[in-house]
Amino acid sequence: MAKAKSVFFCQNCGFESAKWMGQCPSCREWNTFAEERVTVSAGTRKKEENRQRPVRIRDIELSADSGISTGIGELDRVLGGGIITGSLILIGGDPGIGKSTLLLQTCRNLALSGHSVLYISGEESLRQIRMRAERIGECPDRLFLLAETNLAAVRETLEREKPEVCIIDSIQTMYSDEIASAPGSVSQVREATGILMRLAKSLGISVFIVGHVTKDGAVAGPRVLEHMVDTVLYFEGERHASYRILRAAKNRFGPTNEIGVFEMRDSGLAEVANPSEYMLSGKPEGASGSVVACSLEGTRPLLVEIQALVVNTSYGMPRRTAVGADYNRVNLLIAVLERRCGLPLGDSDCYVNIAGGIRMNEPAMDLGIALAVASGFRDRPVGEKVVVFGEIGLSGEVRAVSQAQQRVSEAVKLGFNTVVLPKASMKTVKKTEGIRLIPVETLREAIERIL
Ligand code: TYD
Ligand code: MG
Repeated sequence: MAKAKSVFFCQNCGFESAKWMGQCPSCREWNTFAEERVTVSAGTRKKEENRQRPVRIRDIELSADSGISTGIGELDRVLGGGIITGSLILIGGDPGIGKSTLLLQTCRNLALSGHSVLYISGEESLRQIRMRAERIGECPDRLFLLAETNLAAVRETLEREKPEVCIIDSIQTMYSDEIASAPGSVSQVREATGILMRLAKSLGISVFIVGHVTKDGAVAGPRVLEHMVDTVLYFEGERHASYRILRAAKNRFGPTNEIGVFEMRDSGLAEVANPSEYMLSGKPEGASGSVVACSLEGTRPLLVEIQALVVNTSYGMPRRTAVGADYNRVNLLIAVLERRCGLPLGDSDCYVNIAGGIRMNEPAMDLGIALAVASGFRDRPVGEKVVVFGEIGLSGEVRAVSQAQQRVSEAVKLGFNTVVLPKASMKTVKKTEGIRLIPVETLREAIERIL
């Protein structure tokens, strides 16, 4: 017998509680609990003949399926090679960032290369989607649209049409009649995702789910679904900047942390083939407080400019801000500069910014941030053609980082001639023509060598 009861869910992370709470004990967000009615079934047993039996691992057949190419190189890279048949992929991001645009472009490419595609929208009318498609390019033959929000209808359509790829835009608009709570609530989005997961696996349809990242507590965010799906991609970027970054947060079929870089144009999203060049465009020449650092995003090194502005504090408390870098990390590096390198930053405001608005958290950025602050403080520029990378410890030591060779190669490719790197990483780097390697053991040594 099914029985209805009332529970409270955190709309941010999906934490479940029997009573209302002001702050979520799991994700520490305030005021995110909402009441939902859920039906608890007494547990349905599968009939004897439907039960699965254990299978020997060697008897499972491997398919040579390396994934269908989406026709967008950057998306294929983030997916780990392409779309795997029967996989469930979640694309999260702020409203208006370009999720629908990216997926419509993907659908178009897939349809043009002969795959059957169904785009189910619960947000826009068919005419609106057609208008968007017109901006992107000619509409192909095999791309079908459906405006639907009822899950039972979606399920019926998928079972009847059996497309190879299906898009659900967005999961927060889908609802099941069997669940009492409103569309977008935690129990609804979970139910919808569960149904789509079963359909994807049983029919071999690859399903993309769009999930809006929400700020208020009324609609459940994509985080509550992360554990259910095969792949989680997040679309990020500044609203006013034209580039967008697609990041894999979870991938059962490929590497995580891989990024794809796009630019929003009039005719949809365009791939950025050389992101380092793109990120460094507009770098000022001969300015103090500007350092080029190298971070590894997934398997690809990326050069970015770190800027630091150091000014005298006008009120007693020095101000520190970090845009694009981790705030606590920046404070830690400033403390190391003060204590281990003798830079009196106690009466200085420090503003650190990663140019281009990109967010980067790799420890290898430490040396770049510290040198940018030191350069800004002394008002002495770092050489034009210098790239730095290295992690900094609390004693002021510069620690080894992974993939040093790849980072050096990227610097060479973009025409830099000097690389400051951790001494411990030197043994992994080959001698390269035309590049001067400056191995350093401590932050103090790095400052002395290049400032
Ligand atoms: P959209 O894909 O609708 O965002 P989401 O589905 O993530 O909410 O993107 C909408 C934004 O993209 C909107 O601000 C207009 C812009 N855009 C372009 O600049 N060029 C284009 O060719 C298209 C289709 C959209
Ligand atoms: Mg959309």
